[in-house]
Amino acid sequence: METVQRLTDSILSLDCNDRRLERFENLFPLPDGVSYNSYYIDDEKTAIVDTVDSSVTLQFLENVKYALNGRDLDFLIVNHMEPDHCANIVELAKLYPNMKLVGNAQTFAFFEQFYPSADLTANYYPVKNGDQLSLGQHELNFVFAPMVHWPEVMFSYESTEKILFSADAFGTFGALNGNLFTDETDYENLYGDECRRYYTNIVGKYGPQVKRALKKASKLDIAMIAPLHGPVWRSNIDYILDRYMKWATYTPEKAGVVIPYASAYGNTASAVDYLANRLSEQGVKDIRIFDVSKTDASYIIANIFKYSHVVFAAPTYNLNLFPAMKSFLDEMAILEIKNRQFAVIGNGTWSPTSTKEMIEFFDTQKGWTNLGDTITLKTAMVDDEKAQFDVLAKAIADSVKATEID
Ligand code: FEO
Repeated sequence: METVQRLTDSILSLDCNDRRLERFENLFPLPDGVSYNSYYIDDEKTAIVDTVDSSVTLQFLENVKYALNGRDLDFLIVNHMEPDHCANIVELAKLYPNMKLVGNAQTFAFFEQFYPSADLTANYYPVKNGDQLSLGQHELNFVFAPMVHWPEVMFSYESTEKILFSADAFGTFGALNGNLFTDETDYENLYGDECRRYYTNIVGKYGPQVKRALKKASKLDIAMIAPLHGPVWRSNIDYILDRYMKWATYTPEKAGVVIPYASAYGNTASAVDYLANRLSEQGVKDIRIFDVSKTDASYIIANIFKYSHVVFAAPTYNLNLFPAMKSFLDEMAILEIKNRQFAVIGNGTWSPTSTKEMIEFFDTQKGWTNLGDTITLKTAMVDDEKAQFDVLAKAIADSVKATEID
């Protein structure tokens, strides 16, 4: 059955949900599924904005057929060539051979790389940044947004109904639950954290480019933002734009402490809990502790984007930093997170090297400020080491309290 919903009198959502996929891009867990959104504009000329992932092809084609209601498809706008959105271009071209494929030079280059055996060159309808396409009553304006999330990405702004088709931007993990618009959901509880986890892990590396795209978007009169994942924004638009500006500039949302740790036998974990208790006594609220061996890195990354301070704690393993922490730091480095204060706790039974390795790692990272008072344990924490933890807790708590959040 079709799963089509109405954005406006003449624009439909053709969204499809996948609640079975284990990991997005085979990397990020999807406990609440994901939606792949596509939009249909009904006018003198017909247009679809982006397609969907191959896992939901049958549902998508049913939705397309329902939306077109016997009409031909004139244009397919390709705002993003990642396979979760472009996987049905060839399918649509088979059904609607006259359809023009609207994209830029990189869109078509990527299309040919992903689908080398499909020749749609006769269908190409190349556009440049700032170009317009009239469908009749509706007019699409193409605003290039490179690296949000790939280089070919563009936004399509429909100026009659003031709808920004924003590709991956402003989307979220989490399938749709019937409610198409964010203001029909308990957004903060249902999507708030997943929207951050989606942004920070998928686009987090490209803060400067996102900032540029936000600047372009701020010049548009936007009544609705229609992303490629998750619900559509038709109210509270400043809220999501502000959130994006914070993330794009690596500005913490809250003064607080995240503690990612690794622990082979529980001794480093115990020391982390001891520190967290002292932090709480010092007035630090909403402390977040994660075992990097267990919790998927994407959740920890999202929390590091959210909070101002981070304490990394890990033992030594085979004379090196514990592998799970090393892997976590490598993943974090790829995303180029910055503007955070941090402290380090190392551990080791005979030749502890983890403290040194973590400090050396942060020497290579931009925008990380070491609060000092580094601690190195020799296996289990003992009473004589409590004073060091008290000093570290006070230094962190003082710094947290001094952090100003807009
Ligand atoms: Fe939803 Fe970058 O693809």
